[in-house]
Amino acid sequence: MPTYVVLLGAPGAGKGTQAKRLSQALGLPHISSGDIFRENLKNQTELGELARQYMERGELVPDDVTIAMIRERLSRPDCAPGAILDGFPRTPAQAEALDKMLHDFGGQMDVVLYIKVSQQALIDRLAGRWMCRAHGHIYHERYNPPKQPGICDVDGSELYQRDDDKAETVKHRIEVYQRQTAPLIAYYRERGLLVDVDGEQPIDAVTAALLAAVPQRAE
Ligand code: AP5
Repeated sequence: MPTYVVLLGAPGAGKGTQAKRLSQALGLPHISSGDIFRENLKNQTELGELARQYMERGELVPDDVTIAMIRERLSRPDCAPGAILDGFPRTPAQAEALDKMLHDFGGQMDVVLYIKVSQQALIDRLAGRWMCRAHGHIYHERYNPPKQPGICDVDGSELYQRDDDKAETVKHRIEVYQRQTAPLIAYYRERGLLVDVDGEQPIDAVTAALLAAVPQRAE
């Protein structure tokens, strides 16, 4: 059976940072809805143009578009062993659609890891975040600085600050999260799938706590 792990948390909670680490540790692909939208934006596709209109305002891209995109991504051969999902699902309709698609792929959700971070820490993290142009590697000017300012340690590409990390947009993204995504915490807790992890520990400690919460599968 494939292994599916969902990372849930507010904007800036550390989902992308941790998903990359879990992906390496567990040997599963990292599927980030935000990264797929940004890749489409960069390549100026029709999907990218549609997503841009929502992303720059800090709103969610409509469910039907997002669900179809994730279904297509999860159906690719590299997801046969499962996936680490980062940023999806984000609404009750997406959560229901995910259950259905995992069932269609012969699997089910293994665990939902909820990374908890206070609002002040979220704002502080997003204000200081830098990302690499080539592959989206994530840095923070104080908490996880690159060796050389402005240059990615991994691939040497330029670092940039996301348009939606401007203070006003961040505030709105957090409100949208509270309204549309936070209800999923109760949804998954009631089903016994949610594990709470303190996201205000150092990055390595958060990774260790997340890995400890992923159920081990007998071969
Ligand atoms: P998306 O890219 O998913 O953004 P997000 O959910 O707002 O999350 P972020 O990427 O901002 O934060 P993160 O939790 O990954 O934190 P990170 O690891 O970078 O979505 C962007 C947009 O796309 C949405 O607004 C929407 O428009 C659209 N979209 C995406 N998915 C969608 C969906 N399913 N439906 C509809 N629309 C969708 O860390 C943040 C910073 O903190 C970094 O600088 C990092 O170095 C630092 N940091 C991380 N961990 C720690 C730590 N433990 N201690 C100190 N610093 C830390």
